[in-house]
Amino acid sequence: MKKEQTSGSVSDQKSDALPTRNKTLLNLLKGETTDKVPFWFMRQAGRYLPEYRALRKEAGSFLNLCYSPDMAVEITLQPIRRFNMDAAILFSDILVIPHALGQKLSFVEGEGPVLEPIRNRQEFMRLSIDGLHECLAPVYETLSRLKTAVPDHVTLIGFAGAPWTVATYMVEGHGSTDQPAAKTWAYGDPEGFQKLIDLLVEATSLYLIRQIEAGAEVIQIFDTWAGGLPPSQFERWCVEPVRQIVERIRTRFPGFPIIAFPRGAGPRYGAYGTRTGVSGLSIDTGLPAAWAATHLQPDVCVQGNLDPRILVAGGELMRREATAILEALSKGRHIFNLGHGIVPETPVEHVAELVELIRNFRRD
Ligand code: CP3
Repeated sequence: MKKEQTSGSVSDQKSDALPTRNKTLLNLLKGETTDKVPFWFMRQAGRYLPEYRALRKEAGSFLNLCYSPDMAVEITLQPIRRFNMDAAILFSDILVIPHALGQKLSFVEGEGPVLEPIRNRQEFMRLSIDGLHECLAPVYETLSRLKTAVPDHVTLIGFAGAPWTVATYMVEGHGSTDQPAAKTWAYGDPEGFQKLIDLLVEATSLYLIRQIEAGAEVIQIFDTWAGGLPPSQFERWCVEPVRQIVERIRTRFPGFPIIAFPRGAGPRYGAYGTRTGVSGLSIDTGLPAAWAATHLQPDVCVQGNLDPRILVAGGELMRREATAILEALSKGRHIFNLGHGIVPETPVEHVAELVELIRNFRRD
């Protein structure tokens, strides 16, 4: 079981810091500052890596990769071997939760996830939380193996999708940019939709607590579609469910480091951080880093936010943008990352160049 952390002062945490001595990223989230800027990249394990593509071919299906600890451990470590990031993120997907609740799910080549949609109270009755841990046991096994397999200085990140984002896939049946079916249900029958969100809060909390028990040292919550909700709906469907999950985790593990990624939240990032109580906010590509330095960094660690398409472009533009982000966030706590996940067409050499640039940067 994961050692209990105190929610006390930074100096308390330092005295407790022996096993985490070299973990810059973890210590930063606990309140320490360092002259080095730690980094990792969302979707750092994936199709831009030839070694991932080779394993993916062998596995047949994507879900097979997620549920095979041998392969999931290997894929988690692939980017670390190449680039020695400060964090390794569990290889899995946010959609294993709907799958574990009984929803049919497959990943279709070139199309992304396809689920049998749940669009109303009646279809909701098909879901059940009873088989949750049995279905997700391989994910816990992956984490417990990673706990000993990752190098000492590497922080192990577990994750889940936020209830709103996961619900949009469950209701839509596939990815979408404007979530029409989820909005139709949420706006037309909020009490019915609330039942789905409540089930996701419950399942996600239980899932993340198990991830921490298995070895995750930080949790990231992905709310990819947060920005699509109007302000009047944002509190109910994005903020409150994540606030409840954070509370459930921290009741069990006081002060546990949690990063949230409410993509597209714009100026609502500030209130989101305060209301949910997260330790870090992952900012998307569109949010000015200087705004985040003023409005977020005094209270939380800021993670972000190079445009993944600039990483594809590389060259002078990439060097200039990455340096501007590093400088804008250099007065407070910063984890360098992208503003969204790495895309498959990213040249591996561009990632290597970016890593060198971040490593050589020193705050003054
Ligand atoms: O970051 C990592 O390296 C860890 C693994 C990880 C994956 N998905 C692997 C994956 C993580 C953290 C995710 C999160 C995820 N999954 C999100 C939230 C973050 C984001 O990027 O917005 C979402 C919305 C999903 C749902 C999902 N999974 C989609 C829409 C797709 C298809 C599109 C795509 O990017 O391929 C997936 C598939 C998926 N998840 C792949 C990987 C490596 C590609 C599968 C393949 O090899 O065919």
